Amino acid sequence: MGQTVLLFAILCSVLLCAETQFIIGRKVQFRKLAMCPGQRRPTLVFENVVFTRNEQGATTAISFMVYVKKRVERLTMSVTFWKCEDYEHMDSCEYYLKDYTSNDICELMGKKNQIWTPFMDNFSMPPRCPINVGNYTFAPTPINEKLLTILPLPNAFWKLQFKGNDTITGEYVSCVDVEFEIHSRRRN
Ligand SMILES: *[C@@H]1O[C@H](CO)[C@@H](O)[C@H](O)[C@H]1NC(C)=O
Ligand SMILES: *[C@@H]1O[C@H](CO)[C@@H](O)[C@H](O)[C@H]1NC(C)=O
Ligand SMILES: *[C@@H]1O[C@H](CO)[C@@H](O)[C@H](O)[C@H]1NC(C)=O
Repeated sequence: MGQTVLLFAILCSVLLCAETQFIIGRKVQFRKLAMCPGQRRPTLVFENVVFTRNEQGATTAISFMVYVKKRVERLTMSVTFWKCEDYEHMDSCEYYLKDYTSNDICELMGKKNQIWTPFMDNFSMPPRCPINVGNYTFAPTPINEKLLTILPLPNAFWKLQFKGNDTITGEYVSCVDVEFEIHSRRRN
């Protein structure tokens, strides 16, 4: 459970602070948030991912849509982290955390007073299971500066893959690839 919360913290801070320069002395540069290639009929589809940037290139807001094409009774999610030297050395990638699996995603979504709670409030998808068929919007949400100090990952190019199944039916739900770079920032 503790580790799951940590993963959520990482996910939230990473997704919501893409390419931002708020982190003291460190910069996160977002490269990708997209459906994994070659999926056959995912039931949960992320689309219209929009990162708004300021003139310094920092992300100031994020928004996206989630299409739920088939009811999801309960969600089991697994995540794999690869750590790579940098964006130019993708052949250097190694496993950092492999297939870490959690089946309490439904409970975590709706938990109060968590770092992701305010963001769930901006998501039109109700934070509980079952997840019903529909199109849900994650409203353009400003980057929260406080959130960004929580990033317990060393400098590297990171690739994350999230895979979901329906816990009850065992059916495949979706796969999402996330890529970002964390590096120390030169002080001006
Ligand atoms: C989803 O189900 C497939 C097939 O049963 C299994 O190989 C995979 O590990 C499951 N993934 C998750 C995240 O539970
Ligand atoms: C969701 O959006 C897609 C793409 O715009 C559309 O084809 C579909 O009919 C919508 N589904 C619902 C339930 O609104
Ligand atoms: C939710 O979205 C609105 C509209 O885009 C925004 O003004 C607000 O700050 C967002 N809430 C959070 C917690 O980011």
